Amino acid sequence: MLLRYIAMQYETIAVKRLSPVIGAQIDGVDLSEPLGNQTFAELHDALMRFQVIVFRDQEMTLDDQKRLGRHFGDLHVHPFAKTPEGHPEVLTIHADASNKRVAGHGWHTDVSCDPEPPMGSILYLKTTPETGGDTMFSSMYAAYDALSAPVKALLEGLEAEHRSEHLASGNAGHGDHKDQRDYPASVHPVVRTHPVTRRKALYVNAGFTRRILGIERKESDALLEFLFDHVRTPEFHCRFAWEDNSVAFWDNRAVQHHALWDYYPQVRSGFRVTIQGDKPFLSTDESPEVHSDTSLRLSGYDLKGRPDS
Ligand code: SIN
Repeated sequence: MLLRYIAMQYETIAVKRLSPVIGAQIDGVDLSEPLGNQTFAELHDALMRFQVIVFRDQEMTLDDQKRLGRHFGDLHVHPFAKTPEGHPEVLTIHADASNKRVAGHGWHTDVSCDPEPPMGSILYLKTTPETGGDTMFSSMYAAYDALSAPVKALLEGLEAEHRSEHLASGNAGHGDHKDQRDYPASVHPVVRTHPVTRRKALYVNAGFTRRILGIERKESDALLEFLFDHVRTPEFHCRFAWEDNSVAFWDNRAVQHHALWDYYPQVRSGFRVTIQGDKPFLSTDESPEVHSDTSLRLSGYDLKGRPDS
């Protein structure tokens, strides 16, 4: 099917890019209110287009944040992160002078060890350090696009194992508390097709990916080292400088992120809601890239990336 790129005209939100390839700040929306259809469609379109969208000056309760997440899909329950009492779908993100490690420090995609890893994450920080504590985001579309054709062809034939035991509570700044479920492990394609935009994205990350399968251990180690270094390329990045009451919403199918920990012993604190995704796949269908919700409907996918029934 031939699809045309149709840029969506935004009517309810204002958008300012954070970098040429990834990230946008969104103004004009109060995330504590249920989203109307038009605002939801525009936010979804902006997330698909910019891969991470950020907001300033938001006041949300945990219930508001969960409702925001549920506009985009079912909520994901993290296997081992600390959660506030009575909210198993919410992660506590907190660092202060007592921390020996912090969650999210190092390039990763959220919970890629799950068989159906999260499609997106919404982080709301209420307390931020005076300076420092930025989150960096790297576009996995840009990372894939920058590879040479022979390397793309090699990677497209490979799958990798993603594990989590090494990150379980107590090991990675998630705290000392009871895990919510067993440590997942899964095999995913090294390059995945985004289910909504149909763009190809690199899908290995230093946090969870332990080994590329079907090749020698030495080859896997060398390839992963190269790819983890490739993700660190500054031209694929944007960097978000938090203020109190900011929100970042990222698409885990298209980005990796890295929470900087340069603010010790200051406090950085808030909550993350994570949205369930589906099983990563690599499509051989070379459909042209699509972005807008109009195009998404044309492409046979609903707004959450599920094939229309
Ligand atoms: C995370 O969700 O990985 C933490 C990100 C951050 O604290 O900036």
